Amino acid sequence: MKKLKIAILFGGRSTEHEISLLSAQNVVNALDREKYDPVLIGIDRSGQWHYNENSIQLLNIQDAKAISMTQLDNPVVFSQNANDHHLISLSNKENLASIDVIFPVLHGTFGEDGSIQGLAKLANIPCVGCDILSSSIGMDKDIMKRLLRDSNISVAKWHTQRASNPLIKFDQLTPVLGNKLFIKPANLGSSVGVSFADNAKDFDKALKHALEFDSKVIIEEKIKGREIECAILGNRNPKASLPGEVVPKDEFYSFDNKYIDESGAQLIIPAELSKDQIQRIQSLCLQTYELLECKGMARVDIFLEDSGHIVINEINTIPGFTNISMYPKLWEISGINQTELISNLIDLAIADYENQNKLRLC
Ligand SMILES: Nc1ncnc2c1ncn2[C@@H]1O[C@H](COP(=O)(O)OP(=O)(O)O)[C@@H](O)[C@H]1O
Ligand SMILES: [Mg+2]
Repeated sequence: MKKLKIAILFGGRSTEHEISLLSAQNVVNALDREKYDPVLIGIDRSGQWHYNENSIQLLNIQDAKAISMTQLDNPVVFSQNANDHHLISLSNKENLASIDVIFPVLHGTFGEDGSIQGLAKLANIPCVGCDILSSSIGMDKDIMKRLLRDSNISVAKWHTQRASNPLIKFDQLTPVLGNKLFIKPANLGSSVGVSFADNAKDFDKALKHALEFDSKVIIEEKIKGREIECAILGNRNPKASLPGEVVPKDEFYSFDNKYIDESGAQLIIPAELSKDQIQRIQSLCLQTYELLECKGMARVDIFLEDSGHIVINEINTIPGFTNISMYPKLWEISGINQTELISNLIDLAIADYENQNKLRLC
């Protein structure tokens, strides 16, 4: 059988650029070479695509804030013709590869937010993971929470601050949200721009900091509970993995805890939970996934309160694939190794694409 050419996109114009590089290296290593040929495309910080031959070469691999890609000498464009998908070299106009499926290993803005998914849709090419709608819903924590609240799924109480409105004061929020607050950009990930504040001075600083990253910021009550994550895989009838637990060393699971400090957080895989707790978590995470119209994959992050009550924190539609990342590890202990996982994701993208193409256009 002809091998499919899988365009693995990485880097990108996102504050999570570096994490994407680490994720992509793992995806490439785990890709089943009997079935697929990778076409490696590094996206630099200006958004230019670059063809990478053979492997992803990275610099400063030990420092998650300084990792960078090296092969930036072959700029390419992707032909968006709906019938063929060529990667054209900008230097000599040569057709470098024809692509069968796009696998965006991009986190955050311009990758996880529906924009790459939109490009794939225009080009009429299967794309791994969530579609335009579910990607953008999952990216915007304010919209995501509104949809969940409307279906009576618990989320932390929150206030939405827009950059164009007068800045809310700590004392105005405490009667409703209490005096322990989380301040976060509505559309980001990897804890970039996220702060905790329990006094007016820290709060003002945190709000301004978050507004540097997004024109919409959410301020949430602090939820006291265990941080549990569950991996979901599938289109209609998705499956849930066993849950895992994150135990951050500090007040919260910050960027440094995630990627810089090796002992910043303990990942307990699988989480120590009763059968009943696992069942309730899986069922609520699946409900969340379906309610937010997800396809392909997502990781649902929750808080498990002492009372047993579950509060949904967020959904990540392109979860990390680094070698310490929860999503692939959760599937590993649930019986799907990384190579199978990636093949499943590609199959799901093709199945969804074929279903969509059965629909009448007019
Ligand atoms: N309402 C909350 N209550 C308690 N901890 C929170 C709350 N919101 C965020 N956190 C902490 O901050 C971390 C990052 O916030 P999160 O909403 O997951 O943002 P990101 O999308 O950047 O991962 C969480 O993993 C958790 O440790
Ligand atoms: Mg998170």
